[in-house]
Amino acid sequence: MLRLISFLFFFAYVQALDWTATPFNPPSIPLAVRTPYLSAWLPQGSGAALNDVWPTFWTGSVLGWAGFVKVDGTAYSFLGSANVPGATFQKAAQTSFIFTSTQSTFVLVAGPVQLTVSFLSPVDATDLVKQSIPLAYMTVSAASTDGAEHSVRVYTDISAEWVSGDTSLTVNWTTSTGNVVAHQVQLTDPSVLSEVNDHTQYGSAFYSTISTDRTTYQTGADVMVRAQFISNGVLPNTQDTDFRAVSDNWPVFALASDLGSVSSSTDSLIFAVGHIRDPAISYIIANNGHQARSLYFWSQYSDAASLIESFLQGYPDAHSQASAFDSQVESDAYAISEDYAGVVALSIRQAMGSMEVTISKSTDGSWNTDDVLVFMKEISSDGNVNTVDVIFPAWPVLLYTNPTLGKHLLEPLFRYQATGQYPNAWSIHDIGSSYPKAYGHNDGGDEAMPVEESGNMLIMSLSYAQRTGDNTHLTTYFDLLDQWTQFLITDALIPANQISTDDFAGSLANQTNLAIKGIIGIRAMAEIASLLGNTAKSDNYTSIAESYVTRWQTLAVSDSGEHLTLSYGNSSSWGLSYNLYADKLLGLNLFPTSVYETQTAWYKTVTEPFGIPLDTRHTYTKSDWEIWTSAFMTDNETRDIFILAVRNWASDGRSSQPLGDWYETLNGNPEGFRARPVVGGHLAFLVL
Ligand SMILES: *[C@@H]1O[C@H](CO)[C@@H](O)[C@H](O)[C@H]1NC(C)=O
Ligand SMILES: *[C@@H]1O[C@H](CO)[C@@H](O)[C@H](O)[C@H]1NC(C)=O
Ligand SMILES: *[C@@H]1O[C@H](CO)[C@@H](O)[C@H](O)[C@H]1NC(C)=O
Ligand SMILES: *[C@@H]1O[C@H](CO)[C@@H](O)[C@H](O)[C@H]1NC(C)=O
Ligand SMILES: *[C@@H]1O[C@H](CO)[C@@H](O)[C@H](O)[C@H]1NC(C)=O
Repeated sequence: MLRLISFLFFFAYVQALDWTATPFNPPSIPLAVRTPYLSAWLPQGSGAALNDVWPTFWTGSVLGWAGFVKVDGTAYSFLGSANVPGATFQKAAQTSFIFTSTQSTFVLVAGPVQLTVSFLSPVDATDLVKQSIPLAYMTVSAASTDGAEHSVRVYTDISAEWVSGDTSLTVNWTTSTGNVVAHQVQLTDPSVLSEVNDHTQYGSAFYSTISTDRTTYQTGADVMVRAQFISNGVLPNTQDTDFRAVSDNWPVFALASDLGSVSSSTDSLIFAVGHIRDPAISYIIANNGHQARSLYFWSQYSDAASLIESFLQGYPDAHSQASAFDSQVESDAYAISEDYAGVVALSIRQAMGSMEVTISKSTDGSWNTDDVLVFMKEISSDGNVNTVDVIFPAWPVLLYTNPTLGKHLLEPLFRYQATGQYPNAWSIHDIGSSYPKAYGHNDGGDEAMPVEESGNMLIMSLSYAQRTGDNTHLTTYFDLLDQWTQFLITDALIPANQISTDDFAGSLANQTNLAIKGIIGIRAMAEIASLLGNTAKSDNYTSIAESYVTRWQTLAVSDSGEHLTLSYGNSSSWGLSYNLYADKLLGLNLFPTSVYETQTAWYKTVTEPFGIPLDTRHTYTKSDWEIWTSAFMTDNETRDIFILAVRNWASDGRSSQPLGDWYETLNGNPEGFRARPVVGGHLAFLVL
């Protein structure tokens, strides 16, 4: 019955599209999403074709990215919403859209020709060179739909909006030709390690394609260059050298190719778009020193040109690897449900695109590929670096794609705290206030989440070791892990007034769900001690954790016995007890089955049209925590209520922002967050 109600609510809101959307129409479609600064999306709301609107950065600011095709002399737009005064063109008609974990593919009809435009952002979690490459593909192929041959010419450009968050700043550019035609554009006055409106302010954007005798290019004012192609179907291979502001007669960087006479489907034209900067990160080391770190691919490529050429030539392999990955994810997620598979596919690029894989240089100047650190931007909520309680919800995507990537993500936090510069007894919240400056918090003034982050570090460290058999973190950082455990022994059972990861909901004493995390953290340390052969410590911490569970049960349950509370003693309160997921993830079975059964029975009775609220303080919820909670429900009916709710939120047409994890359960409206890595937690089922 409840499912039926939410189903009806859902369809009342969603409008019919002119094209098929498979598996569904998301709030915003990932186009080129690989790093915090290469993050291009197609905003949807209730639906927008590839040529209805401009692509945008994750913040919503426009990223000029245009496409036209000429079929037998008639021009059609297929990408972006360019206005070209004085030029005559039509809009190609979108007929279908499909997304998988790494690809978004659009089919449009331009007169008697069908155009397939596909955007591939590779996920190469086990190949750190490839994973670190800040480039993505767009491919275009054409086929005749009426059996006759048609002349087809393809055009595309990007604007200089790809290099700054301030369009009044001046840019310069060059075009190189050879095996590859590559446009490069950058600020004339870059600001290293800085951001404006979340865009990076140094490095260069590149737009490139493999050069053939049918390739032409041009740089110049948007309206002029686009009109040139619309009239002539080719570009004059000329460069504008009047360097100026991004928005001053909008310079664009255009590529065109003649597909010739097209009957059956053509080979794809392959374009690479991206943004390359160096150094990528500045990281705090001993004595408050700062270490410049570079993307891993620099160990293999000496310059951007060779990287781009190799990336373009590597498309066939990249495409087959991506398709195999997509199929694997889809088959794993379908084992839960079709609704679940759609949510997972939408989440992967967003989660992976928050991270960058870096290496340092040795004193002799050579790359030190043994020193790998991964950095994650807490996109949209505050821009912190490697936020522990953001890595934690995202952890399933790391375990699923490559646990070692997770190890490299935790290492900057461990290594810094092991220098002794961080003064607090509990785990740090993040390794820097604003990406890409990982400067630590020597004043201890980071956002304090003492039980939250200490528990998270212990749980993730054990989880990594269990999956891989690699105990290096446990051995190297044993003292830190034990220090955090001592803190949990004092503060986990009766947690002081503090915030949890859901800081927007406010602080509270005696949070039932936070206590679960802290107690699991203590039990995780018992397991860690056992793995390292310290039986006495292991036995001691096991017995402490077990005694805490017993005492917690007397504190945590409502008077009616129907549900866990949000905070001890408040019987009218409840919340998503998502931290129980860690008990399952680690295989501890620390909390009794009856607790899981109680919660399963309760959630069924409190569902709203778009899901189950985070807790009784508000009617909003978090999609990551809904999926975590659903993963330990004791019946599939309740599990599926959660999954359907998240799927409905992700497809309800009420947001045009990259998927937000925080939303209203009453009406499916978005709250403030978007594009955050925490959607990696939607893979929770795939790692149990
Ligand atoms: C563009 O500006 C950068 C930074 O000031 C400078 O290093 C580069 O030489 C300039 N390039 C051109 C083509 O003017
Ligand atoms: C619950 O779903 C899982 C996976 O989708 C399935 O294997 C299992 O048989 C289902 N359980 C019941 C009781 O239907
Ligand atoms: C927290 O719970 C404990 C145990 O019930 C109680 O003694 C204490 O007063 C509570 N603290 C607050 C701030 O409510
Ligand atoms: C168990 O650990 C606690 C907290 O570190 C400590 O106070 C206590 O002495 C330990 N007990 C034993 C028997 O080692
Ligand atoms: C109990 O929880 C409810 C819902 O979260 C809240 O409105 C109320 O203020 C709480 N009562 C006390 C005494 O804290």
